[in-house]
Amino acid sequence: KRILIFASGRGSNAEAIHEATIDGRVNGTVVGVICDHADAQVLKRAERWGVPSTVLELKSFENKSAFNDAILEAAKSYQPDLICLAGYMRICGENLIHAFPNRIINIHPALLPSFRGLHAQRQAVEAGVKVSGCTVHFVGTGLDDGPIITQVAVPVYDDDTEATLADRILQQEHPAYVRVVTAFCADQLHIEGHHVSGMH
Ligand code: GRF
Repeated sequence: KRILIFASGRGSNAEAIHEATIDGRVNGTVVGVICDHADAQVLKRAERWGVPSTVLELKSFENKSAFNDAILEAAKSYQPDLICLAGYMRICGENLIHAFPNRIINIHPALLPSFRGLHAQRQAVEAGVKVSGCTVHFVGTGLDDGPIITQVAVPVYDDDTEATLADRILQQEHPAYVRVVTAFCADQLHIEGHHVSGMH
C-alpha cells in the first residue's frame, strides 16, 4: 500500500511508521510527506529516507480554501491508499476528507473523547485524571473525532508534568500507530458506522 504522511514538526511517529515499512512489519511504503512548516524536522527525516516531500505553508496562500485546494492536489499527486496524520497540527479540509473516505488516520495523545485539541497532555495533567494515553482513529470532519481504531492507556502520576506525561504517552504512540498501519495495510480493519473492528 502507498502511505502518505502529513506532519508539522518533529516526525517521530512518521519515523516509526517508516521504519516498520523498511523492516517489513507493514506491507506498504511511505511514498511522500506533506508538511505545513518549511523548517520542520520531519522534512530532514524524509530526505534521509529518500522519500519526496511537499511543503505547503498557509501563509503563502490567499486564504484557507486556496490552501486546502493545494493540499488536496498535493495529496492526490502521491496516489495514496492511506494518509497518516502524524503530528499534523491542522484540521483537514473537508475536501480532503471527502476525497479519501476511511483512508485518513490520526494519532492523538489522549484517550478520546477526552482532551481533544491542542496540549492534550497538559489538559490531562490539569484535569487530575489518573489514566491517560493515546488514540488512533479515522479522521472525521470534526476536531479529533471519527471512529476509534485503538487506544493505549498509561498511568498519570502525582508528580507528572506535561512533559513527563507526554514522554510516557509518546512511547506508546509509536507501537500503537505501527500496529494500526500494519492492520490497515493487511486489510484487517472494518468500519461499520462509528465502530471499527479488526484489532484492539
Ligand atoms: C504526538 O504526541 C502526536 O500524538 C501529536 O503530536 C505529537 C507529534 O509528535 N498529535 P511527532 O511529530 O510524531 O514526533
